[in-house]
Amino acid sequence: MTLGAKGGEKIKADGSLRSVAIIMDGNGRWAKKRLLPRTAGHKKGAGIIENVLNIFKEKGINCVTLYAFSTENWKRPKIEVDTIMNLIYKYLDEVVIKRIKEDENFCMRFLGDKNALPEKLRDKCIEVEEMAKDRAFVCNLALNYGGRDEIVRAAAAVAEKGLPMTEENISAHLYTAGTPEPDLIIRTGGNYRISNFLLWQSAYSEYVFIDTLWPDFGLKDIDFCIKEFYSRKRRFGGLDKEDDL
Ligand code: FPP
Repeated sequence: MTLGAKGGEKIKADGSLRSVAIIMDGNGRWAKKRLLPRTAGHKKGAGIIENVLNIFKEKGINCVTLYAFSTENWKRPKIEVDTIMNLIYKYLDEVVIKRIKEDENFCMRFLGDKNALPEKLRDKCIEVEEMAKDRAFVCNLALNYGGRDEIVRAAAAVAEKGLPMTEENISAHLYTAGTPEPDLIIRTGGNYRISNFLLWQSAYSEYVFIDTLWPDFGLKDIDFCIKEFYSRKRRFGGLDKEDDL
């Protein structure tokens, strides 16, 4: 089977790339290069999300997880935090709700503690989640999300229920319960860090770090990342047949 977006490189798929997660980094530098405030970079970065989701969907990926705001991002100046929260609200209200109504194959869920979000945004997230669940394509938006925080909460929930502390039980109590673990994690913006993203779920993910700043991320970069993914040998800790003694 070959998969490809319009105008993009055809990529041979063997079915092993189903779930992609992205650390959307570089908005501030994109703005700085243009002598604009950092908030302009976030605005531009918000504006490309639909295009990116559409490209991945066309390529047959059925789960895309986006790191929109971490538990650590509250440390940023208030103007920046407020701008990001407003952009996310606007995106949900103007784009996502319409899309869920029109596209029966699309739904969104949120990873992270909604309680600390501005009330208006929290209510919008709940509205979006309640509109549709478990459709063919799922976008997970990580919002007020931290990987360590997620693991601690999951372990506490397992303990509280008196369940055995097993990998299965922890997985079942993460924000991502029921969605596939990421096969591929992409970080834009040229830094080589994980930044507390999907720490549990990334145990066997392939990482691709690219220099492109998030607002410039598009089809060419996606083709590059997918090609890179398929060039890797995934062994999940085991050996290939040809490695046998
Ligand atoms: C990292 O870039 C980006 C963020 C912390 C926020 C991501 C937010 C968006 C893409 C916009 C809103 C999102 C949605 C879902 C509508 P940075 O600011 O750390 O960039 P820098 O490393 O160049 O400073």
